[in-house]
Amino acid sequence: WGFLRWTWRLTYLGAIGGLAYLSYHIYQSKYPADQAEPDPSKKTLVVLGTGWGSVSLLKKLDTTNYNVIVISPRNYFLFTPLLPSCTTGTIEHRSIMEPIRNFLRHKSTAVKYYEAEATKVDYENKVVHISDDSEIKGSTSQTSVPFDMLVVGVGAENATFGIPGVRENACFLKEVGDAQQIRKRIMDCCETATFKGQSPEEVRRLLHMVVVGGGPTGVEFAGELQDFFEHDLRKWIPEITNNFHVTLVEALPNVLPMFSKNLIDYTEQTFKEETIEIRTKTMVKNVTDTYIEAEFKDAEGNKVLEKIPYGLLVWATGNAVRPMVKDLMSQIPAQKDARRGLMVNEYLVVKGTENIWAVGDCAIANYAPTAQVASQEGAFLARLFNQMAKTEDIESKLGVLSEEQSTASGKEARDEVFGKIKDLQKRLRRVKQIGPFEYSHQGSLAYIGSEKAVADISWLTGNLATGGSLTYFFWRSAYLSMCFSTRNRILVITDWIKAKVFGRDTSRE
Ligand code: FAD
Ligand code: NAI
Repeated sequence: WGFLRWTWRLTYLGAIGGLAYLSYHIYQSKYPADQAEPDPSKKTLVVLGTGWGSVSLLKKLDTTNYNVIVISPRNYFLFTPLLPSCTTGTIEHRSIMEPIRNFLRHKSTAVKYYEAEATKVDYENKVVHISDDSEIKGSTSQTSVPFDMLVVGVGAENATFGIPGVRENACFLKEVGDAQQIRKRIMDCCETATFKGQSPEEVRRLLHMVVVGGGPTGVEFAGELQDFFEHDLRKWIPEITNNFHVTLVEALPNVLPMFSKNLIDYTEQTFKEETIEIRTKTMVKNVTDTYIEAEFKDAEGNKVLEKIPYGLLVWATGNAVRPMVKDLMSQIPAQKDARRGLMVNEYLVVKGTENIWAVGDCAIANYAPTAQVASQEGAFLARLFNQMAKTEDIESKLGVLSEEQSTASGKEARDEVFGKIKDLQKRLRRVKQIGPFEYSHQGSLAYIGSEKAVADISWLTGNLATGGSLTYFFWRSAYLSMCFSTRNRILVITDWIKAKVFGRDTSRE
């Protein structure tokens, strides 16, 4: 018993010590150490955007090698995989945001950040024109920033395919503001539907939640929304129970086209059980403020245009190229055939240029526009830039040494310099050995509602396609481990616990 008691005491003390050690380190990292000032003689590296591609580059970049300037209208990084959970309040939006200033202040050499949108890249003159479009503007809100090297990581905008009424009436799901708007509209629809004297037809319209686009964004949102209804809304507002209805509209024959066939079937079956209606082979052609017009073929193969009334419309039909990127493409003759973004080579250099690189959704490199691809591309560029700086440093040292060698007097001195040159040449060969970018696909994951997820994972022996509640725990732990910081992880866990214990918040603001 004595031995057991002592073992228990030691374990207890160890756990307390471990916790204290961890807390101390978290506290210590709260305020960073002083940073070195950038060296003006070094090249200026301008990075556009603070999304997956750019932040992954900045994370691994040795900022002592360049004068780094970051330009983005968003002064935070957003962990997009958990954004659908913010539309229903399962997770609070600030839990998946990481302020870019906090992150940049931890770099060894200071990095400049301008909260602005790059309006134009002047390729010829190596200048980026920027504009401060925030609410508060100073006397200067437009200027230009010269660059030696430029990384374009501005992502993509929402595709609407020019369908009338989408921009005016639909909600998108790309940014924090979009998720907040959706959350507010869900509650507004529910409260307006219970307004005194509302007609039954209007109640049905207001409580019809339509999602257009059966890709992972649309599917995850539909799942989250149905959960919100099942777990919270119907309990707090029982009057809406019989009319609340989620419909997912998809132009192709099935949802989640990038997943395995059995997972597509599993998702469609789960949606059926959750009473989410899936309308495949249905293409939305027009949108008004109260209904969408969707085209499909009837049993005889005739095209039918149906009016579908809605209260909330969420538009998730994929990506389109940003105007600033289109403009840059038009300045480079080698990009004349590019349609979906900047064409890059295997080193992510924008084709037709020497000093511009592109990462993420704005670059076309034969990979899907995902966070996984963007972050691997960013990390690759960081390695490339670190190597390039090392190469330049070694080459300049070699230049000095060859001069020394030619002026050295005596065999011993010459041999010593020769030895140094050989060492440096060996290092240079090692440093220069950086292969082209190779994407390593880790798999695809998506939440489909009622605490189920689907996963297509690259496994040692091949591919593993799985769906269900266990996969949901895998989904949660995978996204938790991928969160940007310990702070984000703690906030997300707290939100999950809060939603489980108290339910989601149904306040409208
Ligand atoms: P973004 O992350 O979109 O970042 C673009 C950055 O550029 C932003 O900081 C923006 O403010 C800035 N910017 C925009 N215009 C300008 C300008 N003119 N000048 C300067 N800066 C500008 N992928 C996955 O792999 N797994 C997932 O689970 C997943 N879930 C997703 C869920 C949702 C709801 C969404 C919308 C996407 C999801 N994705 C997921 C896709 C993933 O988010 C994108 O592929 C990824 O964000 C692309 O990274 P990026 O760096 O190219 O662009
Ligand atoms: P998407 O491009 O994957 O899917 C859009 C869907 O909308 C397509 O299936 C298309 O057929 C449909 N569509 C287009 N126009 C339509 C119309 N008029 N009417 C009806 N349907 C129409 O877009 P999504 O889901 O926004 O994803 C964008 C990118 O982000 C993808 O690369 C995706 O893989 C990635 N992503 C990944 C996630 C994950 O891995 N869990 C989650 C969310 C996004």
